[in-house]
Amino acid sequence: MANIQGKNVLITGGAGFIGSHLTDTLLAAGAEKVVIVDNFFLGKDRNIAEARANYPGRVIVYRDDARDLGTMKAVMKKEDVEVVFNLATIALNYSFFNPFTAYKVNVDIAETLMHLMEDGIFKTLIHSSSSEAYGTAEYSPMDEEHPMHPTTPYAAGKAAADLMIMSFYNVWRYDISIIRPFNNYGPRQNDLALAAIIPLTARRILHGEKPVLEGTGLQTRDFINVHDTARAFRLAYENESSRGHIVNLGSGIEISMKAVVEEICAYFDYRGEIEYRPGRPADVQRLCADAKLARKLLGFEPQVNFKDGLRETLDWYKVNQQE
Ligand SMILES: NC(=O)c1ccc[n+]([C@@H]2O[C@H](COP(=O)([O-])OP(=O)(O)OC[C@H]3O[C@@H](n4cnc5c(N)ncnc54)[C@H](O)[C@@H]3O)[C@@H](O)[C@H]2O)c1
Repeated sequence: MANIQGKNVLITGGAGFIGSHLTDTLLAAGAEKVVIVDNFFLGKDRNIAEARANYPGRVIVYRDDARDLGTMKAVMKKEDVEVVFNLATIALNYSFFNPFTAYKVNVDIAETLMHLMEDGIFKTLIHSSSSEAYGTAEYSPMDEEHPMHPTTPYAAGKAAADLMIMSFYNVWRYDISIIRPFNNYGPRQNDLALAAIIPLTARRILHGEKPVLEGTGLQTRDFINVHDTARAFRLAYENESSRGHIVNLGSGIEISMKAVVEEICAYFDYRGEIEYRPGRPADVQRLCADAKLARKLLGFEPQVNFKDGLRETLDWYKVNQQE
């Protein structure tokens, strides 16, 4: 078992949604310091304000681009980084505006990290994939053997980064684990441009607008709470038996977008109409994780059920609307 206690850790995308929760989790587990490299595309100072207040001097923030080899090398040497959690990405919806960058950012950061591993600059990489790399379920629940048929440039970039990183593991046995989260939700998830369904619906209702469903609303997702996800990333570092594996991170429970929107409407006591709009291009229709490998390799079981997690999330949005 590796132990995060006393370790100098770097999180790419650490000022984002999942990265900021991971920052809290790793510091609470005794990491010596968390170095964040985030270009603040969607990252926010307020996401990491609590960690900075709770652990003075132990959250070090670089407003930089994780693609840049020179920057990353300099930061890692200066901060004596041993472990990297790679979470930086640009949200899926950005694929529809700027597909090339949405794709390439994932691959470029992965390439930079492989160069740094090759040079022995840091020891361990815990890389974040996405269930979007699979595309629509060909069978359900989806285990890690499910074929990858990404449907958007974002998803293709995630899949390509995974393939590149796994190939370096296969040839050189670098110290690497890949976590493949399904849909995350929880406090701090971006609720402005490029937002996902839960923050977007909450925001619409709080601003007196109609909630919106794209397509039939019968598309399904497997929602996992961000507190569970952050814990799973720590477990992936600690359980070295996960090295060289891609590990799904989901609840194993499939929920339709319509059911999610209806739950949010019920929470806010919203009784108005739900607006239906045309489906998003190339939208994945069905996702549900087979979570057995995470149980076996990480000893991971989700602890937050969707109803409780959604209530906590919506309580948070009620008092934390952005702009
Ligand atoms: N949120 C989900 O439902 C979900 C599901 C599956 C996988 N994931 C994966 O989890 C990881 C974190 O996602 P998130 O939901 O927290 O997204 P997020 O957008 O909140 O966080 C990503 C962070 O990366 C930063 N970033 C973007 N480009 C960068 C660059 N070039 N250099 C440095 N920083 C950069 C952004 O500013 C942001 O803070 C991603 O790898 C994502 O693919 C997320």
